[in-house]
Amino acid sequence: MINAIIIICAYLIGSIPSGLWIGKLFYKTDIREHGSGNLGGTNSFRVLGKKAGIIVTTLDILKGTVATILPIIPYFNDASIHPLILGAIAVVGHMFPIFAGFRGGKAVATSGGVLLGYAWPLFIVLIVGFFISLKITKIVSLSSMVVSVIGVIYCIIYVIVTGDYALLILVTLLAAFIFYRHRANIKRIKEGTEPKVKWL
Ligand code: G3P
Repeated sequence: MINAIIIICAYLIGSIPSGLWIGKLFYKTDIREHGSGNLGGTNSFRVLGKKAGIIVTTLDILKGTVATILPIIPYFNDASIHPLILGAIAVVGHMFPIFAGFRGGKAVATSGGVLLGYAWPLFIVLIVGFFISLKITKIVSLSSMVVSVIGVIYCIIYVIVTGDYALLILVTLLAAFIFYRHRANIKRIKEGTEPKVKWL
């Protein structure tokens, strides 16, 4: 029973549509009707501005972190679900949120949050990698995909050193989610029409 409850909690946490709620509450704007139409931090930056973008991205990251560290709550002591599975479920919630008609984000920030909760050194490596890639390419979606590949490479090395496969399985799954959710971006990148950031 406790396993079912913790899984539902992870999904509900991931389902919180930060971009939608902040947009509607403070800017009277549904970000799904503007920009890329995505319910994520990048589109919040684009449509609502810098402050909202930072808040939405932070909240989306925290969803993954909180879901991953749920087992530290005493009530969940008896749960036997691996924290990374809870993190992956939160990412599914972020992509298909029950509170937003199952139209959610592209898995990037919440996946980062899972890593922050479970493997923070990898999170730091990916944040640095993301900004280096963004500086070079100026494209957020491309940089998101670049870091998901870096994450998989990091985890392969981690397996060789430690023999622990759990992180590699999770990061490969998250990278697959990220690529799948960026299908439209990939098409635009190939066509040369993907928007570039101007502030870096
Ligand atoms: O985090 C999502 C980002 O990689 C792309 O977002 O709005 O440009 O499709 P967007």
